[in-house]
Amino acid sequence: MVRSLLVTQDKGGVGKSLVVRALAEAVPEAPIVEIDSSQRLVELEGRTTFFPMRADRSEIERTGGRASRAEFDKVIDAIANATAPTIIDVGANTGRSLLSVLSDIASELEGAGVEVGVLTVVTNEPGALAEAPKLMKLAAPWSAARFVLENRLRGPVDPKELKLIAAGAPISVLEAHILEDAAGSILQDLGLVAIPNLDGAALTQAHGLALGARIRRDLVSLRANAMEAVRTPAEWLVGG
Ligand SMILES: Nc1ncnc2c1ncn2[C@@H]1O[C@H](COP(=O)(O)OP(=O)(O)OP(=O)(O)O)[C@@H](O)[C@H]1O
Ligand SMILES: [Mg+2]
Repeated sequence: MVRSLLVTQDKGGVGKSLVVRALAEAVPEAPIVEIDSSQRLVELEGRTTFFPMRADRSEIERTGGRASRAEFDKVIDAIANATAPTIIDVGANTGRSLLSVLSDIASELEGAGVEVGVLTVVTNEPGALAEAPKLMKLAAPWSAARFVLENRLRGPVDPKELKLIAAGAPISVLEAHILEDAAGSILQDLGLVAIPNLDGAALTQAHGLALGARIRRDLVSLRANAMEAVRTPAEWLVGG
């Protein structure tokens, strides 16, 4: 069985791509699939297959018809034809539709020897809290494994609500990290993969000793925390 792990949350900006980047660090041999309106995982380009989605998909969904039925065909073929554990970044507003389509073809996927896991990212925002249980329920009947990652970016999620969302799935936590502007830019442009090899002397030269050291320390700590938060799903992914 080849395993694929979908990282989902229809609310935007909750840290899905950061979680995908952490998984990519934790499982360096895994290919990555990115489903989004524009390609963002630029530093992982060499190992990423990008599937463009229209930013405004409501029109496609409202009209139904052929375009909507065929929307995920290529993505599903990529999942079905994977020969190695695959990490999938499911862009905003896309998770629920993709999981519904996968529900419809669950038996075919099983026949093709594919196991699909679902990791839902939850933040303390009404949109994310409303979407998360829907995604988890959609995945429950057919997915091989489910995980919840609480990203404390907007503060902690009420533990009772989190437990209800997870419905027995393992929960991990990513703390909110305060990043200097320059650290945020490095993260955006170079991803987590560059952090272990950041050039300390160059950072000192560009930002001074104190700020340069802080940028590096903050990024190293974020990377370690993010990788720890994806440890259980990463172990599942490679365990097939
Ligand atoms: N725990 C955290 N601490 C600090 N910064 C974070 C944390 N989680 C996410 N971020 C930052 O928040 C921003 C949004 O994260 P990201 O792009 O991963 O979200 P996303 O869910 O993939 O967004 P989209 O729905 O647009 O694809 C990024 O700049 C990311 O680095
Ligand atoms: Mg993203």
